[in-house]
Amino acid sequence: MTDQNVPILTPTAIEKMRVAGKLARDVLIMLDDHVKAGVTTEALNQIAHDYMVNEQGTIPAPLNYGSPPFPKSICTSVNHVVCHGIPDDNKVLKDGDIINIDVTVIKDGYFGDTSKMWIIGEGSIMANRLVDVAQKALYAGMATVKNGSYLGDIGAAIEAVVKPERFSIVKEFCGHGISNQFHHAPQVMHAGKKGTGLPLQTGMSFTIEPMINQGKWQTKILPDKWTAITKDRKLSAQWEHTLMVTDNGCEVFTARPEEDLSFLTA
Ligand code: MF3
Ligand code: CO
Ligand code: CO
Repeated sequence: MTDQNVPILTPTAIEKMRVAGKLARDVLIMLDDHVKAGVTTEALNQIAHDYMVNEQGTIPAPLNYGSPPFPKSICTSVNHVVCHGIPDDNKVLKDGDIINIDVTVIKDGYFGDTSKMWIIGEGSIMANRLVDVAQKALYAGMATVKNGSYLGDIGAAIEAVVKPERFSIVKEFCGHGISNQFHHAPQVMHAGKKGTGLPLQTGMSFTIEPMINQGKWQTKILPDKWTAITKDRKLSAQWEHTLMVTDNGCEVFTARPEEDLSFLTA
């Protein structure tokens, strides 16, 4: 532990995080074939749950997490839902929708947490731009991470991507340390000032998961106590990776083969 109670992964823990991260991203890859117009978010939940439990032998971390217990195995956040959307039999995906699916698995006591966006059909120009900017924001945050950089560098880099686009950054939810617990220190803010905050050390592991809004940043929670939506009901997009600080950059435990992360080593 460091002074701010941020655990440093042991070599054994690193190996377990690699396994958990790969399994989490495998769920997103598996879901690709199923995310399309006409499917319900509950059907996606069922497919993901069965795959995690029966094929992977992983535990879906969201199921019964928190209070009130989250009732499903993945989060499905459509259009103006910012995060923590609850899969629902009555929520049918239609052309033009955007959806974030957030998967967290537990394997051998360690957690892999990752999410991505899909656009159903073509999507509006605005939807495409928002989804793209949100991913660029995540990547800009990731690109700052290395031993000796600062937590504030991540938020500053995300702001530098989002502000010129005139989108906004959600402030109520942040990234988080993750290893053998779902959420631990540090809190990873998605806005900040370069050179401020916790100095990062090789072996720290955390998520970066910026939520970017088309309109204003403010959110509200629905009476189900989980679903977060934009107050102005405009679109929101989010991408998430679990990574570990290394001497010269970071290792992305949840990287998918389709991603070009060569910028991280450049
Ligand atoms: N996976 C989310 C995160 O990125 C947390 C989901 S908690 C749940 O931190 F209970 F809603 F699943
Ligand atoms: Co997370
Ligand atoms: Co997540």
